[in-house]
Amino acid sequence: MNNLRDIDVDNKKVLVRVDFNVPLTQDLEVKDDFRIKAHLETINYLKDHNAKIILISHLGSPKGKDLSLSLEPVAAKLEEISSYKVKFVDETLGEKVQQAVNEMDNGDILVLENLRFNSEEEENDSEFAASLARLADIFVQDAFSVCHRNHASVSSIPKYLDSYPGFLLEKEISALDGVIKDVKRPLIAIIGGAKIITKTSVIENFLNKADAILLGGVIANTVLQFKGIYGNEELRDRDTYQAIKDIDFDNPKLIVPMDGIISKGNYSRVGSVDSIGDGEEVLDIGPETIDYYKKIIKKAKTIVWNGPLGKVENEIFSKGTKAIVEAIAEQDAYSIAGGGETVSYISEIKKEEGFNFISSGGGAMLDYISGKDLPGIEALNKHYEREN
Ligand code: 3PG
Repeated sequence: MNNLRDIDVDNKKVLVRVDFNVPLTQDLEVKDDFRIKAHLETINYLKDHNAKIILISHLGSPKGKDLSLSLEPVAAKLEEISSYKVKFVDETLGEKVQQAVNEMDNGDILVLENLRFNSEEEENDSEFAASLARLADIFVQDAFSVCHRNHASVSSIPKYLDSYPGFLLEKEISALDGVIKDVKRPLIAIIGGAKIITKTSVIENFLNKADAILLGGVIANTVLQFKGIYGNEELRDRDTYQAIKDIDFDNPKLIVPMDGIISKGNYSRVGSVDSIGDGEEVLDIGPETIDYYKKIIKKAKTIVWNGPLGKVENEIFSKGTKAIVEAIAEQDAYSIAGGGETVSYISEIKKEEGFNFISSGGGAMLDYISGKDLPGIEALNKHYEREN
């Protein structure tokens, strides 16, 4: 890959893909600024070297323009934490954007509106990518956490512009490569959260690489349903069924909760997963599961964690995740955590020190460690090969 430190960015327009996909409060204020801070090293460097900095990002998964997912509050937060003046334009492309870019002085910072307000972003539309590229002289990819997406600002801009990895991207790759190249065993992957469809291949890859995979969250519930343990319900969502049907659920490395905090309406109870009745759902792992997972964690030498094991936004259902975070923090192993909700939770209970590396990526981190090629990194490598 090219190196940003080797080029002269003075007076150059630099388009930087960041990941400002941060949680917002109901009042549309930034709830957790970890991801914004993570980009400061790149932004500070470009500012100190007199570049004109144009920041592009997605926020959430809007279908068209949705002002509750505007990047305006994120731009304001960046201004607050960096103490630089940050200008925001409520368009991603077009005349208004071009005019704002034309008016930039060296060291100015401009944030454009949410890339995903335009369907072309997720469709990886070439003309959309080329138009974004035309705004600048240089492209910097700093959004490691979205590098697993085959989207226009990830895979295609490097086809049209001289492209470089940002410092956050470099830092992520070097930390994660450290784990992959010299993995200390046992390697345990803990996978929770909600998005099982996007984690199917990760689970499959980890079944080859890891010594155990501990599941929690909605993902575990889906697997329990699939295995017929969670009542006798058929999987309601056929897409999910199609996506996960090839996973080897009988592999003994794949460990699912044996009990949980089972809830319906206003009540909740502790019970084994085969006792779940109609309309009940599992909102946290139970005490037996916590003990069992802790025993496995106690033997681990490398731990990779993504995704809460329960509904952590409600304290009643956060005990399982908290116990697992504490067990990881106490264990003498190389530990990595990543993912929006995961990182927010670690910071909420102030356990950052308990991890060797906190990745800004969730799905991207899991994909990378499990051995998948990330389109965003491939695009930078291809650009480098073409240029050299
Ligand atoms: C993330 O939160 O993992 C990244 O911002 C990517 O978001 P996505 O899962 O909506 O593509």
